[in-house]
Amino acid sequence: MDEFEFIDRASTNAEKYVLRKKLFGTEEVLPMWVADMDLATPQCVLDSVRKRLLHPVIGYEIMRDKAYDAQIAWVETHHAFTMQREWLSYSPSVVASIGCAIRALSEEGDEVIVMDPVYPPFFSMVQENRRRLIRHPLRQDDQGIYRFDSALLRSQLTPKTKLLLLCSPHNPIGRVWSREELETLGTLCLENNIRIISDEIHSDIVYKPHRHTPIASLSAELLENSVTLLGPGKTFNMAGFSISTVSIPSKDLRDAYEKERRRLHWGDGAVLSHVALETAYTDGTAWHQKLLEHLQHNRHAIETSLSAHPKIAFRQPEATYLAWLDCRAFGMGDRELRDFFIQKAGLGLSPGLSFGKEGSGFMRLNFAVSSDKLNTALLQLERLSNG
Ligand SMILES: Cc1ncc(COP(=O)(O)O)c(C=O)c1O
Repeated sequence: MDEFEFIDRASTNAEKYVLRKKLFGTEEVLPMWVADMDLATPQCVLDSVRKRLLHPVIGYEIMRDKAYDAQIAWVETHHAFTMQREWLSYSPSVVASIGCAIRALSEEGDEVIVMDPVYPPFFSMVQENRRRLIRHPLRQDDQGIYRFDSALLRSQLTPKTKLLLLCSPHNPIGRVWSREELETLGTLCLENNIRIISDEIHSDIVYKPHRHTPIASLSAELLENSVTLLGPGKTFNMAGFSISTVSIPSKDLRDAYEKERRRLHWGDGAVLSHVALETAYTDGTAWHQKLLEHLQHNRHAIETSLSAHPKIAFRQPEATYLAWLDCRAFGMGDRELRDFFIQKAGLGLSPGLSFGKEGSGFMRLNFAVSSDKLNTALLQLERLSNG
């Protein structure tokens, strides 16, 4: 099945390997935690960067309109959302944009809604910028599908609630929020004067029949009320280029964000990253298609293997290459569970509790690896059946 070039990243400076000792206390684990992939960045991207290096000056450059236009065309094709060039600006990182948008659109002491579990910087960006967290628990319904509870959410709001940090699609639970769910959230925000910061970095890793809907695309009101964060880092395995974009259609919100951005002075990024982004969005379609096929194959392999597992429950994610493993049947505390995975299965996964209280008893496994590596991990997981 593997048609890609998978790279042994052990001898490189890859974070997932380098931090093994620190995170797991040993180098003897297969690291399947941080969300990047083991496969080579698309050849077209690498070639375009090599070509740019034939020019001997790597000076200050601004990101060209052509690069933004490539992203606009990609988003239009894949998500039926038409962005305008003037809405968009460069950011070195989606997390940095979250911080900048929080600062721009709220005051110290204001409240920000964050769903739990979620990608950990959602919590830290709120707290480190001295806003108050409103944790909204996501819970599984009787079919195992994670849902927010709009009545509960409504009851959690106060006049100090100014922002919703949305993860769409949602890491780590792999939900692609439906149009109806997004409409419910959007209406609730509009009625209560709450701005939406929507992190859509995982929007290109979505499995059929699910479809990603940018929340800003739902209505003219939501367009004006949303900040959308996008980037090629996950889609094309190019996180190391440190490039993403921020889309803010509302002039008022954009001005507030720009003011904050100027304070941080993060400029317009690096020329090689501009080239990489433009090429990925222009020429990356076939690669992306193959990627989705490979990830679907791996997702299916996990389901086949774990369907017989007596202690680990798994529901296929609708998006992302992250498997959210329900390990509560082991009946262990979170530290014990983590150590158990390290020592008994030789796997370095992300502990569910790091994604918030609702993640307790879960482990997150990154399956953007070769089929062989995944099979090894699945065999190692089988060893845990008698835990
Ligand atoms: C939901 C989400 N947002 C943001 C990021 C990181 O983005 P960046 O590296 O651009 O800050 C990740 C990485 O895993 C993520 O899962």
